[in-house]
Amino acid sequence: MTTSPGAQPPAALLVIGHRGARGHAPENTLASFRKALELGCRWVELDVQWHDGELWVMHDLRLERTTSGHGFLAEHDAATLRALDAGQGERIPTLREVLDLLDGRCGVNVELKTADGTARAVAQLLRDRIARGARPEHFQVSSFHLPELREFRRALPEVPVGVLLAGVPLTLAQAAAELEASVVSLDAEFLEPLLIADAKRRGCHVYAYTINRADELPRLRRLGIDGIFTDYPNRFLGGGSP
Ligand code: G3P
Ligand code: MG
Repeated sequence: MTTSPGAQPPAALLVIGHRGARGHAPENTLASFRKALELGCRWVELDVQWHDGELWVMHDLRLERTTSGHGFLAEHDAATLRALDAGQGERIPTLREVLDLLDGRCGVNVELKTADGTARAVAQLLRDRIARGARPEHFQVSSFHLPELREFRRALPEVPVGVLLAGVPLTLAQAAAELEASVVSLDAEFLEPLLIADAKRRGCHVYAYTINRADELPRLRRLGIDGIFTDYPNRFLGGGSP
C-alpha cells in the first residue's frame, strides 16, 4: 500500500510522477496517469481547476498549449471542454475520472490551481472517497494559493497538505507551520539551505520540482531533499532514460 509522503523515510527519495508521466504522454491525461502506473510510480501529481461544476485536471488556465481549444478554460462550458483534444486523442479528464482510473494503486497529490470553490469541491470528492474506503494519507493536497489551501485544510483536516513555494519567503517556511503542512515543495531554482532547514525544523519533508536529470541526485541528497516531482519517473525508478 502507498506510503504517506509525510511518513516516507528520508533515505528513500520519493519519486512523484509530474502531471502523470508528462515526459511520456500528454500531461494530465488518463494516458499520462496510466503511463505513470506502468513506470512504477507510487505517487502522481496533477493540477485541478474548478469550473462549471467539475474539477478539470489541467495545468494552464488557457487552453492553447495542451488542447485543441482557445482562450481560458473558464470561458467555456463543460460540454465544450469535454470535446477538446488534450493530445493524441486524449480528453481533459476530471479529477473523479483520474481517481477512478488510479483506483488506489498510487498516492495522488492534487494541486489546487484555482480558488473560489476549488478547495471545497476537492474536499467533497476526497471525503466521499475516504468514506468509501480510501485512506486519507493516500492523498496530498497542495497549492501556491495558500488561502485556498487553508480552506481545504479546514474542510478536510485528515488529508495531508503541502505548501508550494516558487521562491524564498522572508518568513521562510512559516506558512507551512501555520497550515500544519506535512510537506514544503520548492522550485528547483530556489533550493535555499536556510529554507530547507527551516522547513525540516518545522517537521516538514521537503520536495523539489521539477527534476528531470538523474545527475542532480547527489546535490539533492546533500541538500536533504526528500522527494522530487519529475516528468520522467523512469530515470529515477531504475528504468533509464527514454
Ligand atoms: O507540485 C509541483 C509542481 O507541479 C508545481 O508547479 O507549475 O508544475 O504545477 P507546476
Ligand atoms: Mg502542478
